[in-house]
Amino acid sequence: MSDVSVAKQIKHEVDKRRTFAIISHPDAGKTTITEKVLLHGQQIQKAGTVKGKKSGQHAKSDWMEMEQERGISVTTSVMQFPYHSSLVNLLDTPGHEDFSEDTYRTLTAVDSCLMVIDGAKGVEDRTIKLMEVTRLRDTPIITFMNKLDRDIRDPLELLDEVEDVLKIMCAPITWPIGSGKNFKGVYHLLRDETILYKTGQGHTIQNIDVIKGIDNPELDERLGVWAEELREQIELVNGASNAFDKELFLAGELTPVFFGTALGNFGVDHMLDGLVEWAPKPQPRETDEGEAVASDNSDFSGFVFKIQANMDPRHRDRVAFLRIVSGKYEKGMKMKQVRTGKDVRISDALTFLAGDRAHVEEAYPGDIIGLHNHGTIQIGDTFTSGSDFKFSGIPNFAPELFRRIRLKDPLKQKQLLKGLVQLSEEGAVQVFRPLISNDLIVGAVGVLQFDVVVHRLKTEYKVDAMYENINVATARWVSGDERKVDEFRRKAEANLALDGGDNLTYIAPTMVNLSLAEERYPDITFSHTREH
Ligand code: G4P
Repeated sequence: MSDVSVAKQIKHEVDKRRTFAIISHPDAGKTTITEKVLLHGQQIQKAGTVKGKKSGQHAKSDWMEMEQERGISVTTSVMQFPYHSSLVNLLDTPGHEDFSEDTYRTLTAVDSCLMVIDGAKGVEDRTIKLMEVTRLRDTPIITFMNKLDRDIRDPLELLDEVEDVLKIMCAPITWPIGSGKNFKGVYHLLRDETILYKTGQGHTIQNIDVIKGIDNPELDERLGVWAEELREQIELVNGASNAFDKELFLAGELTPVFFGTALGNFGVDHMLDGLVEWAPKPQPRETDEGEAVASDNSDFSGFVFKIQANMDPRHRDRVAFLRIVSGKYEKGMKMKQVRTGKDVRISDALTFLAGDRAHVEEAYPGDIIGLHNHGTIQIGDTFTSGSDFKFSGIPNFAPELFRRIRLKDPLKQKQLLKGLVQLSEEGAVQVFRPLISNDLIVGAVGVLQFDVVVHRLKTEYKVDAMYENINVATARWVSGDERKVDEFRRKAEANLALDGGDNLTYIAPTMVNLSLAEERYPDITFSHTREH
C-alpha cells in the first residue's frame, strides 16, 4: 500500500474509534451496564453470560481465585465491538476501591468516560475520587443515571448534586417518566421522542415503542396522567438545566445525562448513541519532547498502561497492555522500546474479549493490544517505530497504606525482592527499601492489594511471606536540584527509601512529620504522584 493510502486507511479507522471506560461507585451497576453494552455491540447473544461474579465464568488463573471468592473484579480487560458505524473499545476498570491505582492508570488510556450513578444513592465517594483523576486530562464524561426501575431520588436534585459535588455542568439528554413501579420510560429532549419502557426485557434487545412529539395525543392515551406531568417537567427542565454543548462536553466541563436501567436494559442504547456521536475519536498524547503525537500520524507509537501476570494459567507470562496512539500495528512488525533502546519484533499481540484472548493481525490508534512479556516491559514504556520520544502522564500514586513484609523462610530474600520488584512494575503495589535498614516496606492504595501480593508471591515466586505493622503514614517522591537532593539525602537519611524503580522516596511516620520536612527543605519537591 502507498503511504497516502496507509494514511487514509489510518484516518478512516481512527474516525470510527471510541475508547472509553466506566467510572462508578461499587454496586452502581458497572458490570450490568457492561453486559448490556456488549449485548448492543452484539458480542454476546444473551445478557447474563459475561458476569463472572456468580456464574464463575472467569476463573482464568490461580490468583483470580481471590477475585471469585470476594466477588470483585481484579482484572482489567478490554472489549472491542462495533456499534452503528463505530468501533468501540471499552476498558473495564476494576470496580472495587482497593484497586484504584490500576483504575487510575486505565483512565490515562481512554478518550472518554461513562459515569454510572445509582439513581437512588446519587454521587458516592468512589465516583468523586475517579472524577478527580479524569480531571487531570479533562476527559469528557457521559453520565448514566441507573436503576430507574427502583424508586430513585428527584431527577433534578440528582443533577444538582452532580453539578455541586463533581463540579461539572449537566445537560439532560433524556428525562425519566416516573421511577420504580411507575417507571414508564424516558423522553429524549433532542429527538423530541418518548421511548416507552417495558419490564422483563432486560436480557435482550427490545423492540422499542416510540412516540414522536411531546404534544402527541398518543402520549396521553399511553401514559394517562403521566403525559401532562411529563410536559410540565420538560418545561421546567428546559428552563432550569443546561442545553447540551459539544464544545463544553469535549472540554470536560459539561456532561450529557441519560436515565435508564441497566438491569432492564433500557436507556443503555441512548447512551451508546450519544457516545458514538459525541465522544472524541482517539486523541493526541503528550510526550516528554513537549509535542503531542496525533492519532492520524502514520508512524506507530503507543504506551503501556498496565501489566498483568498469568492471565491464563497455561501461559505463565505477563501481558503488557499497550494503547496505540498513532500509526498502525501489523502482525510481525518491529517496534522500538524507547526506555531500553531495543527493537523488538511483535508477532503475537493479543486483543481481548472479556478475558478471552485472540491474536490480532492489525490494530489502530485507540485500540489496546496485549504484548507478551517476560519482565522486560514496564508500566509507562513507550513503543515507537523508531523515534526516541516518551509519552508522559502515566502516574504512580503515593500509597496510603504500608506494611513491613517478612519472610517465613529467611533464605528466600532474593526471590522475595525479585517478586516484589516485579509486582511493583506491574503496578500491583509499591515496594520501598529504606536507605538505612534491610526492611522491605510494601505500600498500597487499598488494603486488598496486600492479600493479592502475598498470594501471588506464594503461587508465582514460591515465597511464603507475612506482614507486620509499621509506623508509616505516607510517602512522597523526592526531587529537586541534584546538590540539594544529595544534601537532603544525608540529612534525612532515616526517612528515605528507594522504590521499585530506585527513585528516592520520603517515608513519613506522620502527616505532621511530612509537613515539617516540607517546611524545612523548601528546595525539595515532595510529589504525591510520580510519572513513569
Ligand atoms: P458494579 O459492577 O458497579 O459493582 O455493579 P453491578 O452491575 O454488579 O450491580 C450491582 C447490583 O445492582 C446487582 O445486584 C445488579 O443486579 C443491580 N443492578 C444493576 N443495575 C440495576 C438496575 O438498573 N436496576 C436494579 N434494580 N438493579 C440493578 P446484586 O443483587 O448485587 O447482584 P445480582 O444478584 O443481580 O448478580
